[in-house]
Amino acid sequence: MDLRRAAPATAALLALTTACTGGTVQGTPGASGLRDPYFPKAGNGGYDVTHYGLKLDYAPGTGELSGTAEITATAGQDLSAFNLDLEGMEVESVRVDGKGARFNRVGQELTVRPSDELTKGRTFRTVVRYSGTPRSIEDPDGSEEGWIETDDGAVAVGEPQGSMAWFPGNHHPSDKAAYDVEIAVPKGYEAVSNGVLKSRTDRDGHTVFRWHSPEPMAGYLATLAIGKYAVTASRTASGLPVLTAVRPEEAADSAAALKRIPEVVDWGTRRFGPYPFSATGAIVEDDGTLGYALETQSRPIFSGAPDTELLVHEMAHQWFGNSVSPRSWRDMWLNEGFATYAEWLWAEEHGGPSAEKRFRTFYDEDTDADPEADGSYWAFPPADPPGAEHISDSPVYYRGAMVLHRIRQEVGDEAFFALVRGWAAAHRHGNADTKEFTAYAERQTGKDLSGIWETWLYGDGKPEE
Ligand code: TRP
Ligand code: ZN
Repeated sequence: MDLRRAAPATAALLALTTACTGGTVQGTPGASGLRDPYFPKAGNGGYDVTHYGLKLDYAPGTGELSGTAEITATAGQDLSAFNLDLEGMEVESVRVDGKGARFNRVGQELTVRPSDELTKGRTFRTVVRYSGTPRSIEDPDGSEEGWIETDDGAVAVGEPQGSMAWFPGNHHPSDKAAYDVEIAVPKGYEAVSNGVLKSRTDRDGHTVFRWHSPEPMAGYLATLAIGKYAVTASRTASGLPVLTAVRPEEAADSAAALKRIPEVVDWGTRRFGPYPFSATGAIVEDDGTLGYALETQSRPIFSGAPDTELLVHEMAHQWFGNSVSPRSWRDMWLNEGFATYAEWLWAEEHGGPSAEKRFRTFYDEDTDADPEADGSYWAFPPADPPGAEHISDSPVYYRGAMVLHRIRQEVGDEAFFALVRGWAAAHRHGNADTKEFTAYAERQTGKDLSGIWETWLYGDGKPEE
């Protein structure tokens, strides 16, 4: 939702634009990246997407994906050209407001030059027709994301930059939008995405699924899972639709945790405030498909059967990460610190160790009590990972959780839980960064917490007792 300043136009693009409008250039090209501290090319400047309408067709046999992306956006400046992020795939055509547009591609940047300039404030619709075999993308830390082929289908996971592998867009968490995803697959296959299933229709040997996500979603949280899943649909006591899609091989081992989805959502609602989305559920892939779980919006993905703690972690992300999203990838600890602390909170309320006990275990590096308490989380300050390959390292998770526990120690339970709920409410369906969090925490509790920020959030090494 946030728009950054446009970077200076490249000479080449300006020249092209000048040639085509007879020298009456006013608009400039939108920036080709949002200068994220870790992923500078991610996202694009000059416009704000409000809606993605994806109409896709996937052939599990050949791995071919084809379709159209209809992107509704508002110009934040006079635009002579703008970029979308798309890695791989072939672009067949681009139209802007019904007129053919010129485009070119360099790396992950798809530059679109509409036949008419887009004036600031104008809402415009871009339709990209594309096809190809989507690829997986290797993260700086070596993990695989993007489009991952499985035994009988594929799954799309996008943190932090994989969504550009399967649809063109403004792929940075600061530009969230509503989504409608229509996906056709051969009959016999399931195709599961985020949000609510609007319809499922059979036609000509295919099944077409239409998924609707009305609340803003960051591109990295969009998913598509195609395969022969066992699908179950139900509702929570309060009427929230629950849909799970599970690999048959994982069904038995997943059952116990997945049965608790309504309980976890209700628990989160009590602790963090109203559940932010219009559906919930889970997708369970075969063990080893990804090697990690992801909090895909409204329907987290697990690689192998989850246990309850992991389910709690991914569900907590629905409030922290998905509803309150990071402004940049530097703010990851606001996702992972909260989701990890949610595990500690769940445990203390469900017969496990108290959060205070866990905090001590981690502070004392007591690996007998918890093998994860190995001291690796002192490596760098959680608010400032030393590089893109470190944004999901242990300081972001465990020391992030310890920051929250330090606040709780300082202000007491009542003020702490009011702070957590207030934070989720203040930035509901929006974005926030670390500075906004620390300012909010001090305002809300009326305390000077600068000592915690200096040592726990921004300081190097293990804080003194
Ligand atoms: N966000 C995921 C979780 O904690 C973990 C994860 C998966 C991740 N892929 C990532 C974190 C890429 C950072 C970058 O549940
Ligand atoms: Zn997480």
